[in-house]
Amino acid sequence: EVFETVTELTVNGRPSVLSLDTRVTLLDALRDHLGLVGTKKGCDQGACGACTVHVNGKRVLSCLTLAAQCEGRAVTTIEGVARAGAPHPVQEAFVARDGFQCGFCTPGQIMSAIALIDEERAGTDDEIREFMSGNLCRCGAYPNMVAAIREVVSEGNGNAV
Ligand code: FES
Ligand code: FES
Repeated sequence: EVFETVTELTVNGRPSVLSLDTRVTLLDALRDHLGLVGTKKGCDQGACGACTVHVNGKRVLSCLTLAAQCEGRAVTTIEGVARAGAPHPVQEAFVARDGFQCGFCTPGQIMSAIALIDEERAGTDDEIREFMSGNLCRCGAYPNMVAAIREVVSEGNGNAV
């Protein structure tokens, strides 16, 4: 049985009204209903971090979050982090430092990294590794990701959003 209900979501500053089964996750709402496929579905059970987005500025796993829970909150996805047509400094640093290989985990890594810098939890490489540990990378691009995040922090660019 399907229980469709009107769900109002604001994603990357854009309001939209969707008719969704109450059990639809934020991840599926983003990908399947709003066409925002930058957010990836890795495990769909909270284990990989590929689906990381921000809700009211805090990172959440969108596969474990119901879309309906996000009504009245600001959802930000990887499609929404660029400013004035320029990539976010974390995106630039990931490119400059080769912080990815296949790229599947990258949107989630970048959403986590932006939040981690905002939370001021990127003081040392150990801290970066610890607070990025929920984001897995099958390609093992971790050292370059840490270098990219360290670079953004050292340039004081993290909050330039
Ligand atoms: Fe959400 Fe893996 S898809 S944690
Ligand atoms: Fe391939 Fe991370 S770059 S999974």
